Amino acid sequence: MPDGLPNGMNVDYDGLIPNNVGLNEDQRVRRALETWHPGYIDWWKDMGPEGFQEALVYLRTAISVEPEGWAKFGYVRMPEYKWGILLAPAVEGRKISFGAHKGEPAWQEVPGECRAMLRRLLVIQGDTEPASVEQQRHLGRTAPSLYDMRNLFQVNVEEGRHLWAMVYLLQKYFGRDGREEAAALLQRRSGHQDAPRMLGAFNEATPDWLSFFMFTTFTDRDGKMQLGALAQSGFDPLSRTCRFMLTEEAHHMFVGESGVARVIERTCQAMRDAGITDPTDVGRVRALGVIDLPLMQKKINLHFSLTLDLFGNEISTNAANAFSSGLKGRYHEDQVDDDHVLLGATYPVLRLIEGEIREEQVPALSALNMRLRDDFVADASVGLRRWNRLIEAAGFQYRLQLPHVAFNRRIGEFAGLKADLGGRVLPDVEWAGAKDGFLPATEDDDYLAGLMRPVREPGKFAGWIAPPKWGVDGKPGGFEYVRIEE
Ligand SMILES: [Fe+2]
Ligand SMILES: [Fe+2]
Repeated sequence: MPDGLPNGMNVDYDGLIPNNVGLNEDQRVRRALETWHPGYIDWWKDMGPEGFQEALVYLRTAISVEPEGWAKFGYVRMPEYKWGILLAPAVEGRKISFGAHKGEPAWQEVPGECRAMLRRLLVIQGDTEPASVEQQRHLGRTAPSLYDMRNLFQVNVEEGRHLWAMVYLLQKYFGRDGREEAAALLQRRSGHQDAPRMLGAFNEATPDWLSFFMFTTFTDRDGKMQLGALAQSGFDPLSRTCRFMLTEEAHHMFVGESGVARVIERTCQAMRDAGITDPTDVGRVRALGVIDLPLMQKKINLHFSLTLDLFGNEISTNAANAFSSGLKGRYHEDQVDDDHVLLGATYPVLRLIEGEIREEQVPALSALNMRLRDDFVADASVGLRRWNRLIEAAGFQYRLQLPHVAFNRRIGEFAGLKADLGGRVLPDVEWAGAKDGFLPATEDDDYLAGLMRPVREPGKFAGWIAPPKWGVDGKPGGFEYVRIEE
């Protein structure tokens, strides 16, 4: 097969930018990307993993889009990682499956009336990718093992690739505007006073490894939901891009969920060994040098509520327009059993009415953000049940839970509302006293910070986390996942 067939499965892996989008034949876009590349590398060196740019990291690199064997593993210095542009294979005769254009052939070019909206969707998605790399850039220094350090860097380079994916679409389909947006994506900075990243959760600090595991569990799962909805897009290049990104995203959530699971496992083991029967006896648990379950609950409360804000307003005309125009579907749109147009349909939404949280039926089109958020909550609950099974199996009564959607919100109906974890609206005085029980307090963060001491001997783990069940790529326990040359 000659290379460069736009819908080909073949990947040109040897050039500067590995791709299966025919960059060799597309001089204009290739030049735009090659012009963007040095700025990207500068950004990576400035804002990527601090202190490990020279380390050899055992990473997977996407080299194909075949479901079987799409990645290869090997030692790489991160700035030399091959950030490719890979689209999932085209689906022959694909049709738009929802909205006003339902049944029409999927678009290979951007319809004129959708340009502004699509550009905004790409920029918002694109902005989250480098943001998380920035948020996590200090974590390498305190990694609890080389295995965990390697997983962190794997997530980081793949978020970098996701940025490439969005930048490709911007440069390919949006000309000069796209090039400007691509440049701006390298200029904003997570948490920056004047030029922050676009969405709140991506401007928060990720100071410790429990935060990292919670972030990848919850916030990367928002990524999964957004990509799932964009993978349904009538704009076929976006659909194919997102479908391939989803294969990588699954690993990010694995890192988070299994990371928290290993913390739980270690804590339960330590409590049993010490004869502790009450997991809320925080002082005694912390004396063992492990992370108490109530602190894990507080981190869940924080990261879950921050992530909910990413779904935007409960009632949104933007969401309705993105759906009706065929740009952004629902999660698993192709598996939903309805007319996929939603004119006249309703959807239940929790709203704040006269100071009370009540469910209300609203037009389904304007409630699409909520629909996606509900899908997210259901998906997140599955992981939470797995965590609770570990606690149960260890013989403890304690159960972790997701807070009410009204808790600790900054966007939408419940922004600024003083609701407790169960969704009860608290009077000001009660809230002041209760708050520290809901979210990590300074002493909690200080305790975690004290635990974050690096462990760099192959096969060894910090005392607050259990080793994983399996190594990466079938490697044995003592494998040197990162070779640090200092
Ligand atoms: Fe991503
Ligand atoms: Fe991710």
